[in-house]
Amino acid sequence: MAEVVIVENKDAAGALVAEEIIALIESRPDAVLGLATGSTPLPVYQALRTRISGVDVSRVRGFALDEYVGIDPAHPESYRSVITREVVEPLGLDPQRIHVPNGAEATIQHAGEDYEAAIAEAGGVDLQILGIGTDGHIGFNEPGSSFASITRVKTLTEQTREDNARFFDSIDDVPMHCITQGLGTILRARHLVLLAFGEGKAQAVADAVEGPLSAILPGSAIQLHPHATVVVDEAAASKL
Ligand code: GLP
Repeated sequence: MAEVVIVENKDAAGALVAEEIIALIESRPDAVLGLATGSTPLPVYQALRTRISGVDVSRVRGFALDEYVGIDPAHPESYRSVITREVVEPLGLDPQRIHVPNGAEATIQHAGEDYEAAIAEAGGVDLQILGIGTDGHIGFNEPGSSFASITRVKTLTEQTREDNARFFDSIDDVPMHCITQGLGTILRARHLVLLAFGEGKAQAVADAVEGPLSAILPGSAIQLHPHATVVVDEAAASKL
């Protein structure tokens, strides 16, 4: 059963999770963070900016959840670029220690296995930040994803492409495929912290926290985790 924390607003959520991350880094300087993209985790990264000075982050490691396939890593909306811009540079992390799945088409056949091996070699993820899609997806594990799945290539649903079109010039520019950590990969992290804000996420949050365990609602996988924390505002908690 996930622990649900209802906070006043995004800033309060960001502060809460940032404090948790700083405590982790202070107790374990080579902590492994599971980084998420999307708009939801941004208040966490924002809160970290103001709190991280004085904390030694030189050994912190990180693994992003997912990446588009076939996008130029230098494209401003590749998740590699987003993680660099929002997390690595402002927090002064060592870019060599921050991994993003490799969405290059030439090496895509073994990119999933390579990523799983890199996570295992790092000793696993200590704290995994998660957002949730309106259809209940986490990472890019769309409805129907196996709870045992590992990092692999997936086809993006039309809904997710539409949701993410806001970051591109038009929906035609949104890639068709992605490479994402699987639900099985995510469940191996030692602590899951799922954030959600706004009424639009209320149903997905209720289904993830209280609904039946179902591959139709990938977020419900968090119920299988012994240490999952859900941080939501009142609106996202309104259907609990
Ligand atoms: C994307 C990401 C997910 C994210 C979801 C929700 O599809 N791959 O990791 O949780 O969008 O995005 P947002 O936080 O912007 O609502």
